[in-house]
Amino acid sequence: MNPAPNPRPRTPFLLASAAVASLALAGIAVQCSSPRPTEPARAAVADADGLRAWDVVYGVLQHPRCVNCHPAGNVPLQGEHLQLHAQNVQRGVDGKGRFDLKCATCHTAANTPGAHMPPGAPNWHLPTAAMPLVFEGKSKAELCRQMRDRAQNGDKTPEQLVEHMTHDPLVLWGWSPGEGRAPVSTPQAAFAQAARTWAASGCACPE
Ligand code: HEC
Ligand code: HEC
Repeated sequence: MNPAPNPRPRTPFLLASAAVASLALAGIAVQCSSPRPTEPARAAVADADGLRAWDVVYGVLQHPRCVNCHPAGNVPLQGEHLQLHAQNVQRGVDGKGRFDLKCATCHTAANTPGAHMPPGAPNWHLPTAAMPLVFEGKSKAELCRQMRDRAQNGDKTPEQLVEHMTHDPLVLWGWSPGEGRAPVSTPQAAFAQAARTWAASGCACPE
């Protein structure tokens, strides 16, 4: 019903994914090269600055406000410590919940006032089962490579990633998450700046 593979790393999986990642790197470099201009301009954002920017972006992606909707399994997470969502809520094929338990049954376009009431933002849902965009449990290097790979990031160019991270309502919700939830700790403007710097570096990733 929910055919997403279990992405928790095991040793053979790690070896396999390292091989795949290195094979894919050539392709990735080309994909990230669309905003990657000529050599002199590229030097304007050195790899070191790109890597520092990625540290900031990664810190946000691992914040509970973000990782709760980017889980490794097929159940959204809730709270500050990656608890599984109550009521046996499941991703469903389209990320909007199973037919009998849709996200929209409880989550509306805005936060419901009150502690432990459902948070809300337009079109509240998880990524799809086919393109789960897992952040949970990914190392800095793994998540960086995943996010710049159009085969794993929902076919987004670096510009589209920046646009998403700076304007998508589900992302922006992380800074106004409703009563009883800590907002993302990195200021939103610092996150936006880091996302732009990372993309402009040609999506620099740690080894
Ligand atoms: C309510 C659930 C929800 C929350 C909360 C949420 N996301 Fe997402 N996110 C999604 C969905 C669904 C998609 C895929 C939709 C799309 O591509 O337009 C997505 C896609 C993304 C993508 C695009 C591609 C990729 O490679 O992952 C990024 C980046 C992202 N989210 C970052 C964040 C950040 C940063 C936060 C926290 C500030 C966040 N998300 C919070 C549901 C959520
Ligand atoms: C039966 C009602 C119900 C359904 C259906 C439901 N939720 Fe929730 N959800 C809640 C409530 C209530 C909370 C708040 C829990 C709390 O704060 O203690 C919540 C919290 C969350 C959170 C935690 C936000 C945070 O960062 O703490 C996420 C993420 C979430 N839901 C995603 C989803 C997604 C995605 C779906 C559909 C696949 C869904 N929910 C379906 C009621 C529901």
